[in-house]
Amino acid sequence: MSGLFGLGQAVLLAFDPERAHQLAVKTLELGLYPRASGPDDSRLRQTVFGLDFPNPIGMAAGFDKNARVPRELLSMGFGFAEIGTVTPRPQAGNPSPRIFRSAGDRAIVNRLGFNNEGHDAALARLGRRPAGIVGVNIGAGKDSADRVADYVQGIERFRSSASYFTVNVSSPNTPGLRDLQAPEALGALLARVQTARLAGSPSPPLLVKLAPDLADEDLPKIIGVILARGADGIVVSNTTLSRDGLRDATFARESGGLSGRPLFNRATRMLARVFQLTEGKLPLIGVGGIDCPEAALAKMEAGATLIQLYTGLVFEGPRLIGRIKSGLLRAIEAAGADSLKPLIGCRADEWANR
Ligand SMILES: Cc1cc2nc3c(=O)[nH]c(=O)nc-3n(C[C@H](O)[C@H](O)[C@H](O)COP(=O)(O)O)c2cc1C
Repeated sequence: MSGLFGLGQAVLLAFDPERAHQLAVKTLELGLYPRASGPDDSRLRQTVFGLDFPNPIGMAAGFDKNARVPRELLSMGFGFAEIGTVTPRPQAGNPSPRIFRSAGDRAIVNRLGFNNEGHDAALARLGRRPAGIVGVNIGAGKDSADRVADYVQGIERFRSSASYFTVNVSSPNTPGLRDLQAPEALGALLARVQTARLAGSPSPPLLVKLAPDLADEDLPKIIGVILARGADGIVVSNTTLSRDGLRDATFARESGGLSGRPLFNRATRMLARVFQLTEGKLPLIGVGGIDCPEAALAKMEAGATLIQLYTGLVFEGPRLIGRIKSGLLRAIEAAGADSLKPLIGCRADEWANR
């Protein structure tokens, strides 16, 4: 059993999922976690939207909603960490239980509903931009009268702390939030967010995080809007409302967003379609169901310049990070290359047609 987060992975998995998550964050805060064995191999390095990533593996949003442990996540071996989703004011989120785990399906369903301590708390912890790459994932409050204003506030408040921003319009757990992905609404949102971002200094790069449940036929227009509004990258994807491929029927009946292995094919196919639509010109972060080196490699071959994971870490523990790095280095060698570049998108057409 791989060790960790201070407690053993097996011990953590014996706890109720939300309690296990709190314990995992606590052990990181206490410094009880395995450190990366040394600096990353230079072949894993990339400069993406102006930032120098030591390796392409990031901690996905939702693990460190309140910016408690970004530095610890980087010390554990992640090349970058994304905190949030943060909303302007603190929110309690939905009633518990609201996180469900299926070991058989290697999956999680969550309906947390943006529980977070609000901008002030996260900002106080982040301070000025920390060493290493820390993205800030911004969202809108549940009862907000002007959702777009909440995103604008996120940009204005975190501009000196964030290495990059992710505009999260794809959580399924805030009613109506995904409507902001409709082309007209997204265009209006991004116009205001970009105006705010570019009105001050610094202006960290801006990414948009999409849901994997968008219809194929809607995707070209949505990507067109994202390109037209000058976003720096796209994160594909958030959790899904689909329950395809689940074996555990009780688990499948829980409402919320599904993550982990059953999301992998859906999210990777969509990633490849986004890669095609952007003609490989916009950096993409591939996320959804990465729980082994082969899945990480497939994500990059489908079009991801960077990858993120969450659920895989829950089941596999922090050693997964080092295993993925070794797997990517083997793939670089097998390709006769000296960087990740030739791998990115090399099988996008194949994935897009699945
Ligand atoms: C418990 C939990 C909470 C999450 N919270 C957020 C969030 O606040 N904001 C966000 O953009 N994504 C959130 N996500 C989605 C992840 O960032 C990621 O997109 C998704 O889980 C797919 O990746 P995975 O299969 O590696 O977990 C959350 C996921 C989980 C499991």
